[in-house]
Amino acid sequence: MRRPIVVANWKMYTRASDAYILATTIKNSIANIEGIEVIICPPSLWLSEISDLLKKDGKVNVGAQNMFYEPDGPYTGEISPMMIRDVAKYVIVGHSERRFYFHESDLDVNEKVLAAVKFGLSPIVCVGEKTKSASIRDAVDQLEEALQHVPKNSYKDIIVAYEPVWAIGTEHTASLEHSVKAITMLREIIGRDSSILYGGSVNDKEIEKFAGSLAIDGVLVGSASLRAGVFIEICKKWAEAKSFKGDVTI
Ligand code: PGA
Repeated sequence: MRRPIVVANWKMYTRASDAYILATTIKNSIANIEGIEVIICPPSLWLSEISDLLKKDGKVNVGAQNMFYEPDGPYTGEISPMMIRDVAKYVIVGHSERRFYFHESDLDVNEKVLAAVKFGLSPIVCVGEKTKSASIRDAVDQLEEALQHVPKNSYKDIIVAYEPVWAIGTEHTASLEHSVKAITMLREIIGRDSSILYGGSVNDKEIEKFAGSLAIDGVLVGSASLRAGVFIEICKKWAEAKSFKGDVTI
């Protein structure tokens, strides 16, 4: 279902105690923020504990950062959709760092989306062109590949994150114009019922420019999500901007 969403991707950061403190601070601080869904994706080692911690008031959800597509089997070091669904509802799939460092192909991403949907998880599917000079069409192609053989009636459970790779971890977001253009093209593929997020150097300073756009349902926040104060500010501003818009139709 299409709705305002703010996702925290902690990547391979946080020791056990950092994760606990960060999650507790976020949980307490957003208790009074209405109108957005917040999803925290910690390292998988902490997933179960953070899930227990956040479950207590039900306002913040958790997601895994990755998974293998088989339900179980002799795959040392991997985690499966069956394991994730015991503790989390969401899973990030196809993040550019997985594609780059771990050579995940569009086919792998497609298998993961199919498995997530099959086992009742909501995948957060990341797509984005690699360089500033590359065509947005690359991101559209990635989404088309990711959705191969996925039943259309599952699209409403899928979240798309448009993350131009050249904007990730740079302290400079893509322009609003560029992002809206890409997201509008992605919307044509995924349809009207899915949320589409922007990701790539999202911070508390530039958040209003994205939040004011009816085309963008949410944000996927990397490094800024590791600073509780900054992340909470992002959540507040997103909720504030979206609360005046009512149902989005663009
Ligand atoms: P960033 O990361 O916000 O640090 O750019 C975003 C992401 O990689 O998902």
